[in-house]
Parts: sequence; C-alpha cells; structure tokens
Amino acid sequence: MPEPTHGSNDAPMRAQDYSEVEDWPGYFGAVLGKEPRETLLVALDAFGREGVAEGLAVDVAAGEGRDTLELLKRGWRVVATDGHPEAFTHLWPRVPESAKDRLESVVVDFAEMAIPVCDLVNASFALPFVEPRHFADFWTRIVAAVRPGGRFAGQFFGDRDDWASLPGRSHQSRHEVERLLSGFDIEMFREEERDDAPELRKPKHWQIFHVVARKRS
Ligand SMILES: C[S@@+](CC[C@H](N)C(=O)[O-])C[C@H]1O[C@@H](n2cnc3c(N)ncnc32)[C@H](O)[C@@H]1O
Repeated sequence: MPEPTHGSNDAPMRAQDYSEVEDWPGYFGAVLGKEPRETLLVALDAFGREGVAEGLAVDVAAGEGRDTLELLKRGWRVVATDGHPEAFTHLWPRVPESAKDRLESVVVDFAEMAIPVCDLVNASFALPFVEPRHFADFWTRIVAAVRPGGRFAGQFFGDRDDWASLPGRSHQSRHEVERLLSGFDIEMFREEERDDAPELRKPKHWQIFHVVARKRS
C-alpha cells in the first residue's frame, strides 16, 4: 500500500511530519516497533554501573511505547503517561504477560500530570510539546519527582530549531537548558544541530539537546 501523502509535496509522510502537525496516531504508526531511545539506554547503563538494575520509571509522553517496553524488559516498574489514548492501544498488546503487573498507563495532559517520586523520569521527544504557559511548572514537577541520585533522560529542542516558531511549543537555548539542569550532574549532553536533506517532504533545521542527568543528593 502506498504511504499516505499530504499537502503539495509527494514525498511520504514520516514521523517528523506527523509530529509537526501533532497527528499523534500518524506518529505512532510511523515509529511503531522502533528501538528505544539512546538517552534511555545511556541512563540505564549509568544505573547499571551503580548496581541499580531496576526501579520505578515514569515515561512521560511514552507514545507507542518504545522506551516503556525496554524498561519493562529490564525489570523496571513503569508509569507510562501520554495525552493520546491511542498510544496505549499500541503499547499494551506488546507487553509480555509476565510484565503487565509492572506497568501502569495513564492518559493525561502534561498540564494535569502528577509525577510520582521515582528513580527515572524519561521524557523522550516530549518536552517541546508542553505548552509554554505550563512548561516551568511541569519542569518543576519533573525535578521534584526524581529522587536524589535518580535521573532525568530526554530531549530539549533548541531555540534555533525551525519548530520553535510553531504556536504552543517549548524550545530552550543551550543556556536555558543548562539552567534547568542546575540541580543535576550532567552525564550526557549532546547537541544535534543539522539540516534535513532537501528532498524530504518538509525539510527543517533541527537543534536538539539529548540529555541524561543525575539529580544531586
Ligand atoms: C514526538 S512524540 C514522542 C513519543 C515517544 N516518547 C517517543 O520517543 O517516540 C510526542 C508525544 O507527546 C504526546 N503529547 C503531545 N501533547 C501532549 C500533551 N499536551 N499532554 C500529554 N502528552 C502529549 C503525544 O501523544 C506523543 O506521544
């Protein structure tokens, strides 16, 4: 079956095209079954080096569940949240029977999301979609939820990223990200800044900060 196309460009819709317009069911279909995010794996390796093999993770805006499934595979308990209920119709059927009692899924908007105290807050490609008027409060809740010695893993989108001008998005400069992480020891801080290839459906300029950080005790 041909890929769906929209707009004037005939190149296929990719995950980023669905993200741009916040078509989350389209996004879930485009990324279904993809590998866990590198930031999650780096955080889990860091816990492993400390002898922490499992704990409680909150997967903020878990989507179709690529990171949640990895956490469950490694024995973690997971509270997976997402604003779109279809996320969990993709996730639950792929959760092994033996892991089902370690997963709680919650459909909730960022603005209403209570984050329990936990070892890891994982927010993969989630924070840019928090409305600016809610961002400071949401970040405060994330920081409060991570136990001392626990970790944050995820992405911030930079102020030079093309999507910074879209309404309702939260992007930060490198300096602002560093300020947000002031209570943490930074273990991974990789800035990715690049242009898409011109033949893509809607090429964009990306500026992403990939972060893993350990909350100071
Ligand atoms: C780019 S996807 C990232 C999903 C997943 N973490 C990943 O790495 O693939 C952004 C996610 O944010 C969720 N989302 C968007 N707006 C939201 C909101 N206001 N409240 C809660 N979740 C939201 C979407 O449903 C989607 O799953």
